[in-house]
Amino acid sequence: MRVVVGISGGIAAYKAALAIRELVLAGHDVHVVPTAAALRFIGRPTLEALSRNPVSDEVFDDVAAVRHVALGQSADLIVVLPATANTIAKIAAGLADDLLGTTILASRAPLVIAPAMHTEMWEQAATQANIRTLAERGITIVGPVAGQLTGDDSGVGRMAEPTDVVAAALSAVSDASAPRPLASTTVVVSAGGTREPIDPVRFLGNRSSGAMGVALAAAARDAGAAVTLVGANLHVPAPAGVELVEVETTAQLRDAMLARAGADVIVMAAAVADYRVDGVADEKRTKEAWGEAPTLTLALNPDILHELAQQPRASVVVGFGAETEPDDAALLQRGRDKLARKGADLLVVNRVGHDAGFGAVDTRVQVLDADGVVADASGSKTSVARAIIDTVALRLAAQQKEQP
Ligand code: CTP
Repeated sequence: MRVVVGISGGIAAYKAALAIRELVLAGHDVHVVPTAAALRFIGRPTLEALSRNPVSDEVFDDVAAVRHVALGQSADLIVVLPATANTIAKIAAGLADDLLGTTILASRAPLVIAPAMHTEMWEQAATQANIRTLAERGITIVGPVAGQLTGDDSGVGRMAEPTDVVAAALSAVSDASAPRPLASTTVVVSAGGTREPIDPVRFLGNRSSGAMGVALAAAARDAGAAVTLVGANLHVPAPAGVELVEVETTAQLRDAMLARAGADVIVMAAAVADYRVDGVADEKRTKEAWGEAPTLTLALNPDILHELAQQPRASVVVGFGAETEPDDAALLQRGRDKLARKGADLLVVNRVGHDAGFGAVDTRVQVLDADGVVADASGSKTSVARAIIDTVALRLAAQQKEQP
């Protein structure tokens, strides 16, 4: 998920580093937006290295990408830690005089703040009124807690522990996804890329990380489905609450999918190797045996999506088509052809090579059915996956209505 971490100018700013690290290690795409004052407490290189993304506090950087709103629009979650009295007042008033302000105003994502300040500032009537305003608007406020403050004093005003802020922020997102359009359904998602052995130590493979399929499995889970993820050599962790079936080859993926062909929804997001090696060697091939210019003979793999679509079923079968075609009309035509050839109900046309710059959209898809485009979504993989799952849920509901 895309998380914007806002940092305001308090001494607790250094603790934001721990939260950023925790979010990145959990697999999130983290964009840090410090205020100018925050950068006096913690250095930009630290934030860039930990978040693995460029960091700016400037509204007028990268104007062409409309970054002052793009970051907020594409965020799935915004967490501000520490939130100073000044930043809290600005959020309450809806001020947008810096990048953090514009990002928060331009976002519909859940907002979580972790106040940190001296006790007197926290107890001040103005601060308390602002906090009440934010709470009434549904903003999650974590802490502050009582404890040692920056000087010799202690009392209420210390920032909650970064790990507690992260936990509260992540659960704010799952609480926010209230509608569960796939309740009491079963969903099977294939993800990753299959590998075809050459000999016991070598294989032919592809670069697919499985991130899109994993995001789809998480979105289906959040929509209330019982989800099985058939993962082929995933580079990313499987989401919690999802059954994981690990496979390596196309043949194993095919067996795992056909065994589950009765599911309500089947999504083939895996990059399936079109060919396998004909005549896999039982022992490691040596250079001596292979010679100077070896050739591999390949055999065509079965088309799993096509087979799944031919099964007697009551399910929605979804395929993917990653295309580099730059022309819009030609791209859609290719998608329509693939949909018809595969016999799937829906085809997600994945426009690879789209602008993936800082603050800009990183994925764009169009979902086709036999009549044309039924959904168009862009943004983080999490938000795109949600849009795809919403479309699938609508299709399933329509199909179930048609059946007696
Ligand atoms: N797919 C499959 N079995 C295969 C190849 C692909 O189930 N042997 C599925 C993929 O999981 C994806 C869809 O088919 O959902 C489209 O994959 P793609 O590689 O784009 O399709 P191909 O038929 O291989 O078409 P192209 O010739 O354009 O690569």
